[in-house]
Amino acid sequence: MTPPTAAPAAPAASATPAATDLEALWMPFTANKAFKAKPRLLVGAKDMHYRSDDGRTILDGTAGLWCVNAGHCRQPIVDAIARTAGTLDFAPSFQMGHPLSFQLANAVKAILPTGLDHVFFSNSGSEAVDSALKIALAYHRANGQPERTRFIGRERGYHGVGFGGISVGGIAPNKAAFAAQLLPQVDHLPHTHDLARNAFTRGMPAHGAELADALEAMVATHGAHTIAAVIVEPVAGSTGVLIPPKGYLERLRAICDRHGILLIFDEVITGFGRLGTPFAAQYFNVMPDMITLAKGITNAAVPMGATVVQHRIYDTVVQATEKGIEFFHGYTYSGHPLASAAGIATLGLYAAEGLLTRAATLAPVWEEALHSMRALPHVIDVRNLGLVGGIELAPRDGAPGMRAYDVLVNAFAEQDVLIRTTGDIIALSPPLIISEAQIGELIERVGRAIRAVA
Ligand SMILES: Cc1ncc(COP(=O)(O)O)c(C=O)c1O
Repeated sequence: MTPPTAAPAAPAASATPAATDLEALWMPFTANKAFKAKPRLLVGAKDMHYRSDDGRTILDGTAGLWCVNAGHCRQPIVDAIARTAGTLDFAPSFQMGHPLSFQLANAVKAILPTGLDHVFFSNSGSEAVDSALKIALAYHRANGQPERTRFIGRERGYHGVGFGGISVGGIAPNKAAFAAQLLPQVDHLPHTHDLARNAFTRGMPAHGAELADALEAMVATHGAHTIAAVIVEPVAGSTGVLIPPKGYLERLRAICDRHGILLIFDEVITGFGRLGTPFAAQYFNVMPDMITLAKGITNAAVPMGATVVQHRIYDTVVQATEKGIEFFHGYTYSGHPLASAAGIATLGLYAAEGLLTRAATLAPVWEEALHSMRALPHVIDVRNLGLVGGIELAPRDGAPGMRAYDVLVNAFAEQDVLIRTTGDIIALSPPLIISEAQIGELIERVGRAIRAVA
């Protein structure tokens, strides 16, 4: 593994914009007014660190947004993108092909659980999810069961921001403004967060496998013949790190099998080594029918998403049409040459440095360090798996989310560390190249931020 180095000097073009220059950009999932009053700008990155516009080196506790698994600006990926940009900037993705997207599909297949062997490319996790939902409908239709149209998601689930994704998703604020136009036939399983029984669990919680049985109740209500697919994150990330209870995913799989329902794992966060195996399906030894991917597939250097499916799903859809296009879906940039090149280089780097299993080696150190935060003020839970950690804080009276937000601001401005927060939960997911010493440093800095705002 390349030893992490300091972040590079900021290029001249990175001068802090004037306040008026910040106005034109409508920032996503951001408190725009608060941000523009006091911006936090990143202008460079290398390995484990960002560089801020005021020249500070910031330790990356979140791999960007759970996506820069091999660390920042890694040379083989940079070179592959540069080379491809000068050779094949774009190739039409409909009725035409280019070798790099086929090569990447094969490289992804090589690390997927056995049986998942066809890859449909898109440009984001949201698109990967919407593609998966469409594939589920297309599969059942081609399989002679067109009445299977209902989707089952889960409370607190995050599946991106497309109308399909927010419909099956279960994070209330992400749906509130759009509730009038969500997909019509969707139910949600109960979430698995249970502080009363599982607080401060190391690894998988003992209690909650029975929550999967809610799926049986939905089958009883609607009839199995109406249900197309269940979609869940094996470890729920964006809602604040919810680790599945022991036996829960197995139970979900068994119920799906019993009733011919497709099981989709949304591995946009857990894919590419986050838990110490290439995919969470392998970690939990539960095989879904489809997996949605994004983020780590290119180490986030070029946007890309992918929906991977079992052979029978591809085969059923493709064989159902005698001539012509079999599946009316795709994106201009599906399998874009730059993204494909970045993906091939990324998977090469993961293999060369053993990054897809490195989290398994680091997990005991990570767990010990995280749980040392238990005694900090207002901490009501600490949870972990692989190289993911969640620290839940008690909300302030009448101001949910503000305590963790203040920790995020303090961590960045005063402790030189980037963290992520959802509600009053701090989520940590550092690049997989993190050293044991840097784990200690990360936890120390986050601890200082928690104490500072207590
Ligand atoms: C599980 C999951 N699915 C889907 C998405 C959406 O991905 P994107 O933001 O690339 O559309 C995310 C993003 O964090 C995610 O965590």
